[in-house]
Amino acid sequence: METIFFFLLLTTSCFSFLVESSDNNHMYSPCGDTKVERSDGFTFAIAFASRSSFFLNNSQQLSPCDRRLSLSSSTSQIAVFRPKVDEISLLTINTSSFSPDNYGGYMVAFAGRKYAARSLPAFVANSTYTVTSFTLALEFKKGRLQNLYWKRDGCSKCSGNSNFVCLNNQDCAIRSTSCKNHGGSVDCSLGIQLAFSGTDKHLSVLNSWYEVENLRQYSLYGLYSNLRDSLTGQYNKIF
Ligand SMILES: *[C@@H]1O[C@H](CO)[C@@H](O)[C@H](O)[C@H]1NC(C)=O
Ligand SMILES: *[C@@H]1O[C@H](CO)[C@@H](O)[C@H](O)[C@H]1NC(C)=O
Ligand SMILES: *[C@@H]1O[C@H](CO)[C@@H](O)[C@H](O)[C@H]1NC(C)=O
Repeated sequence: METIFFFLLLTTSCFSFLVESSDNNHMYSPCGDTKVERSDGFTFAIAFASRSSFFLNNSQQLSPCDRRLSLSSSTSQIAVFRPKVDEISLLTINTSSFSPDNYGGYMVAFAGRKYAARSLPAFVANSTYTVTSFTLALEFKKGRLQNLYWKRDGCSKCSGNSNFVCLNNQDCAIRSTSCKNHGGSVDCSLGIQLAFSGTDKHLSVLNSWYEVENLRQYSLYGLYSNLRDSLTGQYNKIF
């Protein structure tokens, strides 16, 4: 895979109702195995590539950590993140110098090697449409990552807004030609809300997913006024 591009990770301080404690997870590679507890950081990554490059022989989806995929020899990009377990986080990927459609237009979130978990490929962008808002759920069992999935709530956020198109009844997309990286005026940086569910290695319940569900009507973007202005304020304050 090519260079790791620039990213920004924000974490909501208003959700850290736990007493501040240390990060005891020393696995910093997204392609390593680990078990986490609530105060730990957890490293995972998102790979951008064409949909087919996530599959072996067009049939079996493998983790991007699996060398049989040879993502490194194809056109792909990877972003690595280390959020805190059970804190709601908003990841952003600045697309001012990175156009997802130039890298195949799909993304997969992944972590682990022997215990590899990966999401399904999510459509991000092609030359016609760009999706900028995502929610990613990380599901743990006894501290081990089991599953990563994209949560969708239909197109409730964009219904009735003419700047958006509802794709496949699940994603709000804008026209790629409106995006700055295609000569338009909108900052089409990607925003990914994270939520944790399941149990940590001490069987404590991770419940930030519950918080996100309740927040959804307002959306996490509202908590980041700077980001809201740059990411969403431009779409007629619909979020
Ligand atoms: C994939 O295809 C190659 C050749 O086309 C074949 O040798 C290999 O066994 C196939 N692998 C799987 C998992 O089907
Ligand atoms: C992305 O980077 C550009 C150039 O550095 C900056 O102007 C823009 O505000 C950034 N967008 C976000 C959402 O941070
Ligand atoms: C872009 O993606 C949309 C939704 O998946 C699809 O309908 C459209 O045909 C694609 N356009 C191009 C040029 O690939």
